[in-house]
Amino acid sequence: MSMSSTKRLFIETVGCQMNVLDSELVVAALRRQGWDMTATMADADAIFFNTCSVRQHAEDKIYSALGRVRKQKQKVPKLIVGVLGCMAQKDQEMIRARAPWVDLVVGPGQLHRVPSLVDLIQSGSGPQLEVSLDRKSGSRLEVVDSFESYDPDRDATMRPTPFQAFVRTQTGCDKFCAFCVVPRVRGPEQARPPHAIIAEAEKLVAEGCREITLIGQTVNSYRWSDGGKTSRLSDLLVGLNAIDGLDRIKFVTNYPRDMTTDLIHAVRDLPKVSHYIHVPAQHGSDDVLKRMKRGYTIGQYMEMLGRLREAIPHAAVSSDFIVGFCGETDEEFALSLELVKTVKFKNSFIFKYSPRPGTKAFDRQADDVPESVKKERNRLLQEAQAGASLEGNRRFVASRQQVLVEGLSTRDERQAVDPGPDGLAQLTGRTMCDRIVVFDAPLRLIGRLVDVEITSAGAWSLAGNVADDLANAVPLDHLEQSGPSVHQIQVPAQSQPQVAQRS
Ligand code: SAH
Ligand code: F3S
Repeated sequence: MSMSSTKRLFIETVGCQMNVLDSELVVAALRRQGWDMTATMADADAIFFNTCSVRQHAEDKIYSALGRVRKQKQKVPKLIVGVLGCMAQKDQEMIRARAPWVDLVVGPGQLHRVPSLVDLIQSGSGPQLEVSLDRKSGSRLEVVDSFESYDPDRDATMRPTPFQAFVRTQTGCDKFCAFCVVPRVRGPEQARPPHAIIAEAEKLVAEGCREITLIGQTVNSYRWSDGGKTSRLSDLLVGLNAIDGLDRIKFVTNYPRDMTTDLIHAVRDLPKVSHYIHVPAQHGSDDVLKRMKRGYTIGQYMEMLGRLREAIPHAAVSSDFIVGFCGETDEEFALSLELVKTVKFKNSFIFKYSPRPGTKAFDRQADDVPESVKKERNRLLQEAQAGASLEGNRRFVASRQQVLVEGLSTRDERQAVDPGPDGLAQLTGRTMCDRIVVFDAPLRLIGRLVDVEITSAGAWSLAGNVADDLANAVPLDHLEQSGPSVHQIQVPAQSQPQVAQRS
């Protein structure tokens, strides 16, 4: 426990971008209430886990982390142990049944309650649980009301990098893919009004943010109707593109059927919008897609890609795949391999099917592909994707790419090099089409757009040299103001480290 009156919070975040954003917002709210961040669990007054339920593995890791916290809680009874996010919504009271030393359980639709619940615990009111309604336990309106979008003021010092930010377009999902627990734990799809999204973006840019990534479970299904006028994702992109000082705009995740031509044209025509589309196919077989209840065929997916590539020939397309879904045969799996090889995705996030209670597949389809077969198919698909990624990356060698410099490469982060603001370090950034580039450059270029000559390519990244005329660029003021706290929110652990961070 800290000796001062300031309480210290340790937070570990796993899962998707939505969780990274939620953690940023919860931390900012607690900071306004006098809390500080700590990077070490041992000296924390509160330990929070912001959790993910998409796969069993992510849940198992949190339950074992909770097991490790038990001793600390026994020694320091005042320690507040919190489970936030999707597992809180899914497991509810079960969390305290398995780990009675947990004080706080808060679902993703109730995060605005965290500061007052923490106060209640500190004043001796005992454990607190706050979750939203189950999707079938009320009218649509009641359920919608119980999942509140959480969009308080932002705090640049609470982001992994102050010049990049996520902005939510909508919460929840109504697609109900057979394998997916998200509609259950994140609730009904609810759009935020366009003016709120644009106003939040304007404020972020005024505070020094250069890149905004719009996030929604199916971001391109965005739709807001107001007095006869309907706003779509393409309208949001037009609004963001007009913000002075903003350099780059991205949006994830896309649903194949909602990849409309107005959106494709917006990506083509708006200069700040990244030519990068994450639009998960999930599988290469029509039969499996049907069992997954994805709502499209491979023919329709290819038609969508055709429209995209006709408008933007060099667009980078990435995907998610599930291997070993219920009943997947060798022949069906071979179609996923074929899709990866023909489409040549920039990268794919590949997952072994994990049955999730509360989904249609869990209730009605047997998880009958043995773990050893899932493993082998996962390896084969990774291998095919690595080949496609390498081939795609090689086309960039000897080209000049505009790169947003994000920070130290993982190599230099590990070595904890401190070359000072003018010394060279190995830095990393991303191209307009979301490819990772590593290069040696002065630290003061972090947060800037620079031109990089690409000299070599691997499957997961490009390497190059900063073009000379930019190496002496002037630093940005906001970088000098951002204190050491910027690295204290942990970037989510990806299930496939070699693919680096999903963005
Ligand atoms: N639409 C959201 C969240 C979907 S979950 C987004 O992409 O941000 C992310 C990915 O996890 C899915 O695209 C799918 O490929 C994978 N996934 C979802 N449920 C799964 C399950 N039960 N087993 C294995 N992978 C799963
Ligand atoms: Fe999940 Fe399908 Fe929605 S993958 S998040 S139910 S689009």
